[in-house]
Amino acid sequence: MTTSSDAQVQVGIVVGSRSDIAAAERAMAVLDDLGVESEIRVISAHRAPDLLTRFIAGAEGRGIRVFIAIAGLAAHLPGVVASQTTRPVIGVPMAGGVSDGLDALLAIVQMPKGVPVATVGVGNGENAALLAASMLAVGDAELGGRLAARRASQAEAIAADPANEGL
Ligand code: RP5
Repeated sequence: MTTSSDAQVQVGIVVGSRSDIAAAERAMAVLDDLGVESEIRVISAHRAPDLLTRFIAGAEGRGIRVFIAIAGLAAHLPGVVASQTTRPVIGVPMAGGVSDGLDALLAIVQMPKGVPVATVGVGNGENAALLAASMLAVGDAELGGRLAARRASQAEAIAADPANEGL
């Protein structure tokens, strides 16, 4: 397991394969920046289904409030995670496969009714982290303030671009 620190972990990030780990690390970096603790696990939904079930059950008990599940190809991992928890699950499709990520995107976004998975763009671990932080910020005004400050800072950076002088 990779954790950002020993503090209370609030976001569980799970990837279907070590080949997906870069997106998980990008998500963790954004969460770190926002002061949200997370952990990364590498658990395939089809190669290690029992381990995945143990992780989800234990994660809820340890106080994890949101899951980010990252997978490519058939990309069933986010749906399987969502089938075992009522906590929010954010799916990140990964590039690769016969249509370079479109297959994984459609697999994740097309969850049949009854068990939702919020889906972000292909490889977009950053947005998965921001969405997870927004969910947590509903009950955490300080985190909401940090999210607002991050948005203000990115707007300022765009305004400071020399191409925008005089605006
Ligand atoms: C999925 O299949 C993983 O999420 C990964 O994106 C893809 C390829 O996995 P590996 O063959 O690299 O283990 O299970």
